[in-house]
Amino acid sequence: MNLAPASLAYRIVRPLLFALDAERAHEFALALLRVAGTVPGACAVLGAMHRVADPRLACQRFGLAFANPLGLAAGFDKNARVVRGLAALGFGCVEVGTLTPRPQPGNPRPRMFRLPEHGAVINRLGFNNRGVAAAAACLARGRRPKGLVLGVNVGKNKDTPDAAAKDDYAAGIAALHPFADYFTVNVSSPNTPGLRALQAPVVLAELLAHLAAVQRASGSRVPVLVKLAPDLDAGALHEALDAAVEGGAAGVVLTNTTLARDAVAGHPRAAEAGGLSGTPLFPRSLEVVRAGYRHLRGRLPIVGVGGIHDAESAWRMLRAGAALLQLYTAMVYGGPALPARILRGLSARLAEQGAAGVDAVVGADA
Ligand SMILES: Cc1cc2nc3c(=O)[nH]c(=O)nc-3n(C[C@H](O)[C@H](O)[C@H](O)COP(=O)(O)O)c2cc1C
Repeated sequence: MNLAPASLAYRIVRPLLFALDAERAHEFALALLRVAGTVPGACAVLGAMHRVADPRLACQRFGLAFANPLGLAAGFDKNARVVRGLAALGFGCVEVGTLTPRPQPGNPRPRMFRLPEHGAVINRLGFNNRGVAAAAACLARGRRPKGLVLGVNVGKNKDTPDAAAKDDYAAGIAALHPFADYFTVNVSSPNTPGLRALQAPVVLAELLAHLAAVQRASGSRVPVLVKLAPDLDAGALHEALDAAVEGGAAGVVLTNTTLARDAVAGHPRAAEAGGLSGTPLFPRSLEVVRAGYRHLRGRLPIVGVGGIHDAESAWRMLRAGAALLQLYTAMVYGGPALPARILRGLSARLAEQGAAGVDAVVGADA
């Protein structure tokens, strides 16, 4: 189906959304997606508009079948309330969260800022979420969209002491394992004090080994991925990746938002505290994925995320070594037709190159 009307509609609506504070606009988008999820037939129509059914896009990762490699990154649907609406936009995977064991309000507002000149966002939300029990109830109520891989991103509460962090991650996994196809252990948000210290190799390997033991004891075997920051230097990245392998992770998500501001220097919002995402992050996340791919040598698959905003950037991320892709910020600027546009572009590039599938290009430029 032709996506032009949907793209045009978003171009008309965008100035209205951009007149709102960034977080309010996001809440409005979530409300629309919720309506889409509840109106009978709405998701079927949206799904027919946005589906890109090319078998070359399908791929198998950590034992799961993905209809295509493009996922929605964590943070968009923190409370797992709009999974059906999001699935209808064409994503192969939706990662909900970050969820913490107990509900928490996050940082004071305003705490999310657009930098439209750069296609970027700075956020310091601080894991605002309704907690794992509310998310579990939501997921239990909702019908699971067919063919969608559901990732669940877990974190720790702000007031949990660092020494007890592993119990928070374990609690998230225990509460949500009936719904999750995979978990992402988020140790890289810049907005929870002390969280990034969990990327230190010994701490990370212990955390992952603990989670593996807890899963074994409960008889659950959901793959666990680790999400890392783009601000690790080469040595720290290699050590964290080795720790992920040692701790039994099934994959790594590279990367979270950055504390660096060089790419947006001089912008009136550049000095806002928080993590920067979107187009200015792309060169760094691409470099981290490439470095990660070279270091890992196939030991773990990489989910490439950070600044993907069109088919070309998605293609480059695959070729740098990402086995799967995610995006968030580009949805703010590109709207609901973006995932299908990117997937069509990927599909056309695979056809042009005579590639049998995504696997033929992963790491081709590493
Ligand atoms: C407003 C906002 C909230 C986010 N919240 C989370 C989160 O809760 N957990 C997480 O792991 N990443 C979170 N992220 C990071 C994204 O998942 C992603 O790693 C990062 O934004 C880079 O991708 P992008 O440039 O495509 O947005 C958030 C990003 C944004 C913009």
